[in-house]
This record gives sequence, C-alpha cells and structure tokens, in this order.
Amino acid sequence: MTPDDDAPPATHTDDQDGTLHAQGKEDPLANCVTCHGVDLGGDSGPTCYGCHDNEDHTSTRDGVRHLRGDSSSCATCHGPDNSGGLGPACSECHRRRR
Ligand code: HEC
Ligand code: HEC
Ligand code: HEC
Ligand code: HEC
Repeated sequence: MTPDDDAPPATHTDDQDGTLHAQGKEDPLANCVTCHGVDLGGDSGPTCYGCHDNEDHTSTRDGVRHLRGDSSSCATCHGPDNSGGLGPACSECHRRRR
C-alpha cells in the first residue's frame, strides 16, 4: 500500500461506514480535541462537522431542533451522560441532567 497524505493516522482503526475514526469517539471532548480542535471544529485533523450535523433533528422545541428518542440514546453523540460531545451538553439549556 502506498502512503496517502490524506489518510488519517494509523490510530484511526474504528471503521464507520468506510470512514476511519480513532477509538473513543463516544467522548470526543476527551479523546479528539488535541488534533480536531477544542470545539471539534478542526485543527491538524478535519472538523467533525463537515460530516456530522443535526439535520435529522426534526423535533423542534421552542425553536431548538431535537432528535426524537430516549435521552439515553443521545449519549452516542452528546458525550458521556450527555455532558457534551459532537452535540452540546443538555445541561447547557436544561437544569436537570437528562
Ligand atoms: C494525534 C492526533 C489525532 C487525534 C488524537 C485524533 N485524530 Fe482524527 N485525524 C487526525 C489527522 C491528522 C487526520 C487526517 C487529516 C488529513 O489528512 O486531512 C484525522 C482524520 C480523521 C477523520 C477523517 C478520516 C477520513 O477518512 O476522512 C476522522 C473521522 C477522525 N480523524 C476521527 C477522529 C476521532 C473520532 C478522534 C477521537 C476519538 C480522533 N480522530 C482523534 C489526527 C488525530
Ligand atoms: C469524513 C467524514 C467524517 C468525519 C470528518 C467525521 N466522521 Fe464521524 N462518522 C462518519 C460516518 C460516515 C459515520 C457512520 C454513519 C453515521 O453514523 O453517521 C460516522 C459515525 C460517527 C459516530 C457514531 C454515530 C452513531 O450514530 O453511532 C460518532 C460518535 C462519530 N462519528 C464521531 C465523530 C467525531 C467525534 C469526529 C471528529 C473528531 C468525526 N466523527 C468526524 C463520518 C465522519
Ligand atoms: C448521530 C449523532 C447524534 C445523535 C445520536 C444525537 N445528536 Fe443531537 N446533535 C448532534 C449534532 C452533530 C449536533 C449539532 C452540533 C453543532 O452543529 O454544533 C446536535 C445538536 C443537538 C441540539 C442543539 C440544537 C441547537 O439548535 O442548538 C439538541 C437540542 C440535540 N442535538 C438534541 C438531541 C437529542 C434529544 C438526542 C437524542 C434523542 C440527540 N440530539 C441525539 C448529533 C447527534
Ligand atoms: C440549545 C438549548 C437546548 C439544548 C442543548 C437541549 N435542549 Fe432540550 N429543549 C430546549 C428547549 C428550549 C425546549 C422547550 C422548552 C422546554 O420544554 O424546556 C426543550 C425541550 C426538551 C424536551 C421536551 C420537554 C420535556 O421536558 O419533556 C426534552 C425531552 C428535551 N428537551 C431533551 C433534551 C436532551 C435529551 C438534550 C441533550 C441531548 C437537550 N434537550 C438539549 C433546549 C435545549
């Protein structure tokens, strides 16, 4: 195999539909910010938001787009206990933890 300038580092072994992620994507604010930027908006690694958005969040609550579903299912992207990840911490807007 020839080295590819655009290939992610070898630590990126978590294949998501053909896109290689580093291990630990469920807690990106702990595991990805050193290279992908403090807000995951990109640094030496690309922004996460080139590929991830909240387009599928079609349940609008007072103008704020939410995904429909149980709050435990949000932690895949909103970080451990929904404390913040690709999507914001629920506690940024909700007083009680969800
Ligand atoms: C040590 C630095 C570093 C860390 C830590 C890191 N990345 Fe990366 N990542 C990179 C670099 C560098 C690239 C490739 C940049 C380029 O070539 O454009 C990349 C690319 C990627 C890509 C794009 C792959 C593709 O095929 O386009 C994904 C997805 C990604 N990283 C996910 C993650 C996730 C998720 C984490 C945390 C769990 C993480 N990375 C942690 C440096 C890092
Ligand atoms: C080059 C495109 C690309 C980039 C950049 C990228 N991802 Fe992904 N990611 C994907 C694809 C494709 C999937 C699998 C399909 C899906 O779940 O959306 C995925 C899946 C995920 C999932 C699982 C979602 C689920 O529903 O199970 C997480 C979490 C995730 N990525 C985190 C990150 C983080 C954190 C970064 C930035 C450090 C990042 N991704 C950057 C393309 C990308
Ligand atoms: C596959 C990943 C993923 C899952 C699962 C997910 N979200 Fe998100 N969510 C995101 C991303 C990405 C954003 C946008 C972050 C940005 O652009 O700043 C976001 C943003 C949001 C926002 C902020 C919207 C705004 O306008 O500020 C809310 C609220 C939200 N999500 C609710 C939820 C809820 C509730 C669930 C679970 C039922 C959930 N999300 C599950 C990825 C996800
Ligand atoms: C950017 C602000 C914001 C974020 C972040 C946010 N919400 Fe909301 N959410 C709202 C607003 C505004 C409403 C409508 C007013 C209300 O009911 O509190 C709402 C309503 C809700 C409701 C329906 C009302 C209820 O009490 O049953 C649920 C459920 C909910 N949010 C869950 C979540 C979850 C889970 C997360 C994190 C994944 C989250 N929200 C993140 C702003 C936000």
